[in-house]
Amino acid sequence: MKKHYRYTALLLLMLVLLTGFPVQAAYGAGSQSENTLVLGTSADFAPYEFHKTINGKDQIVGFDIDIADEIAKDMGAKLIIEDMSFDALLPALQSGRVDLVISGMTPTDERRKSIDFSDNYYQSKQVLMVRTEDKERYKSMDSMKGEKIGAQKGSVQEEIARSIPEAVITSLDRIPDLVLQLQTKRINAVILEDTVAVGYLQNSAVTLAEAVPDDAPVQAAIGIRKGNTELLTKVNSTIAHLKSENRITEIVKQASMLSVDKPQSPGNIFTIFWEYRSYYALGLGYTLLLSALGVLFGFIIGLTISLLRMSGIRAITLLSTTYVEILRGTPMLAQLLIIHYGLALTLGINFTPLQSGIITLSLNSSAYLAEIFRAGIQGVDRGQMEAARSLGMSRWLAMRHVILPQAFKSVLPAIGNEFITIIKESSIISVIGMADIMYQAGVVKNITYKGLSPLIISAAIYFVLTFTLSKLLGAWERRMGASDHR
Ligand code: ARG
Repeated sequence: MKKHYRYTALLLLMLVLLTGFPVQAAYGAGSQSENTLVLGTSADFAPYEFHKTINGKDQIVGFDIDIADEIAKDMGAKLIIEDMSFDALLPALQSGRVDLVISGMTPTDERRKSIDFSDNYYQSKQVLMVRTEDKERYKSMDSMKGEKIGAQKGSVQEEIARSIPEAVITSLDRIPDLVLQLQTKRINAVILEDTVAVGYLQNSAVTLAEAVPDDAPVQAAIGIRKGNTELLTKVNSTIAHLKSENRITEIVKQASMLSVDKPQSPGNIFTIFWEYRSYYALGLGYTLLLSALGVLFGFIIGLTISLLRMSGIRAITLLSTTYVEILRGTPMLAQLLIIHYGLALTLGINFTPLQSGIITLSLNSSAYLAEIFRAGIQGVDRGQMEAARSLGMSRWLAMRHVILPQAFKSVLPAIGNEFITIIKESSIISVIGMADIMYQAGVVKNITYKGLSPLIISAAIYFVLTFTLSKLLGAWERRMGASDHR
């Protein structure tokens, strides 16, 4: 009886955690509520929007964010910022995950087919960034023919790159990664906007080429969901008054100054770790929460599925087998994107990154755990069930008190391995903006402009986690096994 209370309490606690506290704490109270304004942006585009440590805390700043603040102020709403990859912005806006997009986005005809745009608020020029040593090589666009060129995924720059004859194109999510590719000679040029490019020129390894990818000015405007004319009108009126007071030029200048005033890039990996420990600590918390809940729910669903699979009723067996095969036979990344974006686009179900992450991990691990349980249960000698039944126990009672305890003991190592796998796999959830350890590595990389150290730090944290866990599990198994050897 006592045991029951314990399990129920644990389950309740987990449910409260899942549905309530973390969601609220991390993402504010739901996106559609009356007095919040949810901004979607890709914060890799200084001085438009970028991460910056202010008073030891990570913040997203930039002139786009200043404009968003003004809009929210004019509306009397609280601004919530959602940072995501640039090519995720349109679907996020269409599905209602965010209310507006301010991300230096150019109002192209193609994009106008799916969303609306405000009046333009800023313009810049296309430039070509190359390694300083190659400056003489790229004086005209002809010299770019057949070159390896990088651009941000889903941007107008990517389209320009595609129009260069025979060019080999690398499209990535984040601008700093493109610059890293340029420096490490994987690509020979990056197409960028001049406003953004200047921030990288302090780094003497890169410079701007004379070749100009496109003479037309690139505009920036605010993206709004089609038909949301109310917001569109408000946004345009804020833009109009900012323009009339000449405030835009002013905030652009301030944001540019803020962006070149880079933190003293700490030297070695240990100083980076120490300097940004609060980022990694936060990430660690999320990774642990994700994996623990993923395994817990995976355990419950997996056990259920394996019992259903052995129910002896054909239709149910078939259904649960299909469940297991599909989840094991498709990539977790695909499952994640379907749950996070697919459900929002088709059914309007908007999970937060934390919720999507836990759901994906639970479903995915439940398929593997179901297989583990099945093997464990089938591994228990048939005679055990027969003996229990002949003592008058029902099938279910025998399952619970005779078969499952033995099965559980024998699959313990396999469950432990699954937990370790989940800790590592949970890093995939970072692609939807879940602020776990892997995500923090990206943030620190963007702030410090160091490509390697932040990744090594995150790998080391995962290793410490999994190694400790496997030692602990080993000790626990030995203790559980001790009774067998008496
Ligand atoms: N203006 C370009 C476009 O709309 C690039 C914008 C990139 N913005 C960003 N936050 N990374 O395609």
